[in-house]
Amino acid sequence: MKVLVTGAAGFIGSNFVIRARQVRPDWRLTVLDSMTYAANLTSLDSVVGEVDIVKGSVTDADLVDELVAAHDLVIHFAADSHNDNSLDDPWPFIDTNIIGTYQLIQAVRRHDKRIHHISTDEVYGDLELDDPAKFTETTPLNPSSPYSASKASADLLVRAWIRSFGLKATLSNCSNNYGPRQHPEKLIPRQITGIIDGVKPKLYGEGLNVRDWIHVDDHNDAVITIVEQGRVGETYLIGADGEMNNRDVIALILDLMGKPADWYEHVPDRPGHDLRYAIDATKLRAETDWRPAHPDVRSGLADTIAWYENNQDWWRTAKVVAEARYERLGR
Ligand code: NAD
Ligand code: DAU
Repeated sequence: MKVLVTGAAGFIGSNFVIRARQVRPDWRLTVLDSMTYAANLTSLDSVVGEVDIVKGSVTDADLVDELVAAHDLVIHFAADSHNDNSLDDPWPFIDTNIIGTYQLIQAVRRHDKRIHHISTDEVYGDLELDDPAKFTETTPLNPSSPYSASKASADLLVRAWIRSFGLKATLSNCSNNYGPRQHPEKLIPRQITGIIDGVKPKLYGEGLNVRDWIHVDDHNDAVITIVEQGRVGETYLIGADGEMNNRDVIALILDLMGKPADWYEHVPDRPGHDLRYAIDATKLRAETDWRPAHPDVRSGLADTIAWYENNQDWWRTAKVVAEARYERLGR
């Protein structure tokens, strides 16, 4: 099978390509990535020569048409992905996440191919801290930020193309990923890399916001499972029951890195900050044999910390740029 993987020089996509090479060595993979600030081509060093890499944008209709025609399946990770950046400058999110998805599904439809659209639990908005409810596939879309609104828009396009044009598509909405090769702008790598440099973790507001953490390999295994075992036209939520508030995440990182539990500082909160995300993955578990292989966040985080300690060349330049932006945003 020939598989086009968009956004695979980024965090989840690069881990997907590395994982797919291990577990599906018969797949022929092509990476399409425009190499934004969030990309790092060295993430793909271990598969150089084994995959084709094309530098280009999912918004480029002619390029997308040519590449989709030459593949059987598209796995669409490419996106602008960081909430704080979307609050600072929404346009790239509208362009890549909405227009780029439109170009891909039009090409998939024209050439009668298949696509798996990667999305996020953030499209559902947020939950109260004391609410026993979790998101399910039927939770109404209610996004809060320009990023999540752009992802919800893309999800709606894919769903409409399925219904109106019979697009052969599946969708997945996953919770917060952690693991190696995540950009240092994101919560966990920002704090790990800061601590390595002697800088205290920065907690937005009171730090009571809850995220539902999943190891990136568990997310990517679920994607492969949905492509192979999921029903075309369906949406699947991906999560591993990893709810933790941000204060506890930082406490765990501090503990694993040998720092006192109170060695962090509060910074101004993110505007519109979603309170809690939580995934009910019953449908995925009922319809497929996927189960998370890394349910222990403490041990997954210990491995992730070791990766950042051992791969400082990978993140140092990106860290300087990310912290300059945070300084301007006051966070
Ligand atoms: P990332 O920011 O680390 O990587 C995104 C990649 O997309 C980068 O390599 C970037 O260069 C590329 N890209 C951006 N614009 C492009 C364009 N116009 N054309 C081609 N490539 C482009 O993001 P990530 O965290 O790896 O997220 C990947 C996908 O997973 C996104 O769709 C995101 O919404 C979704 N997702 C992320 C999480 C998470 O916790 N990170 C959770 C659920 C879903
Ligand atoms: O839920 C899935 C989403 O998870 C994905 O769709 C997004 O692409 C991904 O970026 C992530 O979004 P979040 O906004 O939840 O992730 P982030 O790492 O930016 O922040 C996680 C939480 O930590 C959030 O409540 C904000 C907080 N935070 C973040 C940073 C960077 C801090 O307290 N301090 C920080 O320095």
